[in-house]
Formats: sequence, structure tokens, C-alpha cells
Amino acid sequence: MRILITGGTGLIGQRLCKALTARGDHVTVLSRRPQQVAALCGSQVQTMASLQDWTSQDFDAVINLAGAPIVDAAWTPARKQEIIASRVGLTQNLVAKMASMPNPPSVFLSGSAIGFYGDEETGELDETKTAGKDFSALLCRDWEAAANHYSAQLASLNKIHVAPRIVFLRTGLVLDPRGGVLKKMLLPFQLGVGGKLGDGRQTMSWIHHADCLRALLRLLDDANCRGPFNLVAPNVVSNAEFSQTLASTLHRPAFFTTPAWVLRTILGERANLILRGQHVVPRALEACGFQFEYPQLSAALVDILQ
Ligand SMILES: NC(=O)c1ccc[n+]([C@@H]2O[C@H](COP(=O)([O-])OP(=O)(O)OC[C@H]3O[C@@H](n4cnc5c(N)ncnc54)[C@H](OP(=O)(O)O)[C@@H]3O)[C@@H](O)[C@H]2O)c1
Repeated sequence: MRILITGGTGLIGQRLCKALTARGDHVTVLSRRPQQVAALCGSQVQTMASLQDWTSQDFDAVINLAGAPIVDAAWTPARKQEIIASRVGLTQNLVAKMASMPNPPSVFLSGSAIGFYGDEETGELDETKTAGKDFSALLCRDWEAAANHYSAQLASLNKIHVAPRIVFLRTGLVLDPRGGVLKKMLLPFQLGVGGKLGDGRQTMSWIHHADCLRALLRLLDDANCRGPFNLVAPNVVSNAEFSQTLASTLHRPAFFTTPAWVLRTILGERANLILRGQHVVPRALEACGFQFEYPQLSAALVDILQ
């Protein structure tokens, strides 16, 4: 398959590029730092520095993972605009380009997150639930809408012979020692000063990086998969349980608690990302018969950390 990936240099994208090239797919990464693509994604990966460079190549599929980091910097109005532009704006431009090609891609996997459901604790969240109302939820809603517009764009250009298969990747907390939430949590736990955040009752919907990768490959290959998919393991845990499991995997204590007010003081609005939980379930993946290699957190952390 010929595949164009945005965000291929990121945490998820690097593993994806390597897995795809290993099985013989032809991968091109659209990147703002093209000189680093070979080192990060593998020497077989082609590079595209800008959408304007997409002139005549045909791609069977596009996987859209790009986006400015959500948690790394304070959510000032300017930062929020950057987060939105790097997802919604980039996706709008990507979709317009895809639709304009003589042979438009027929498969489109586009990023989203479990943040789609919002930060209210409202019980189990499967793919039928509607978007929440906070910043992350509205971001994911608009990001998905921009991707979904691909069908309408093709129709408006009279390319009705292309019936694209569009998949929204509502990704949970990807557990990967190389980055993301786990890397941020590891140091205090390794030093023996880790523990729960706030009252620890908030739910953490996580996924082992290997299951995330296998799910992406399945969604790319399986013609029956379309629409939203929650990329989370079937067994969510509370933050307190996550902290205990992480500590015991590292053979460290988890005595400490970071009070909610400290997190709110340091993180402002972003604190809701870790103080409010979401009980997300992988209903659509399970309906496709997807089997998780790491359905339980303890086995996932042992595999990742030992
Ligand atoms: N990792 C998780 O736990 C998780 C959970 C839920 C959702 N997601 C979503 O899944 C996608 C991939 O996740 P990831 O963890 O692999 O992300 P990542 O490591 O942060 O990488 C994302 C990529 O996006 C590109 N990017 C960064 N800032 C940008 C900007 N301002 N404008 C345009 N492009 C920019 C970068 O590619 P270049 O520098 O090559 O352009 C970067 O490599 C992201 O959109 C993320 O929001 C991830």
C-alpha cells in the first residue's frame, strides 16, 4: 500500500512508520522537519515537506496524526489557537488536497482522542456517545468534522466514484516509555515519591503502545472498519489503582498524593485532563473482533518497564 502519514515523526507515528515499512508498505511522511524523518521513521520512508509538494503521487491511504502537544504548555489563547490550527486547520488543508488529486486516497484514518467525550464523569463511554463541551472535546469534535468533510469535498468535485472509508482514531493514554503520559509519570515513581493525583478516583483509559499500533494496522487494513474507534484497553483503572500498579511494577512505594489544588495552580485549565477521568470502552474495536495483547494494566506495565 502507498501511505501518506502526517505526524509520522511523533510517538505513535514513528512506530507506525517502522511497522508499515517492515511489512512492505511504501510510506511518505509529511513533516515540518524533513531532514529528521529518515532518522526518526526509518531510511525507507519518503519525505514531503509541504502539501504543495504533493503534485502527482498517488496514495491509497492517508493517516493523519499531526498536532501540537496538548499538555506541554499553558493554554493561553495563542496556544489554544496553535493546538486548533495544527489539527483542525491542517486537516482542512489536507482534505482539500486529497480531494483535488486525480486519484484521491480511498482510506483516511484521522486523529482524535478520548478527550472527544469531555471531562464530565458520565459512566461508560462508547463510540455512540456525543462530544463533551470543554476545550479538548470541542477540539476533537471539530478535528473529526474536518476529516469527515472529505466525502463532501469529493462529491463537490464530482468524484462520486471514490467512496472513501474514513476512520476517527479516538486514542486514549498511550503507554510508551519513550514519551507521552508514562514518561512524564516515571521519574517521581522511580524516585519513590510517586502517588495518586487528587483523590485518585478519576478513571484512566489507557492502551499499551503495541496494541495501539496493532489497532491502527487493523483499522487501515479492514474494509469493514469505518467511523469512530476508541483506542483504549478494555480494562480501565482509577488513577489510584494506576499509581499503585506503576509503583509495584517499579518496586517502589506510592505513598504520596499530589493535591488537586496544587495541580490546578500549576496547570490551570489543563489540570482537568488529569483530575477528571473518562471511562472509555473499546466497543467498536471489540465488535470488529480485535484481540488485545495487553488487556490488563499490570501485564502492560511489566512488559513496558521490565
Ligand atoms: N500519545 C497519546 O497518548 C495520544 C493520546 C490521544 C491522542 N493522541 C493524538 O494522536 C496524535 C499522535 O500522537 P503522538 O503522541 O504520536 O503525537 P506527538 O508525538 O506529539 O507527534 C505529533 C506530530 O505532530 C507534528 N506537530 C507537532 N506540532 C505541530 C504543529 N504546531 N503543527 C503541525 N504539526 C505539528 C509533529 O510532526 P513534524 O514535526 O514532523 O511536523 C509531531 O511529530 C496526536 O495528534 C495526538 O494529539 C495521542
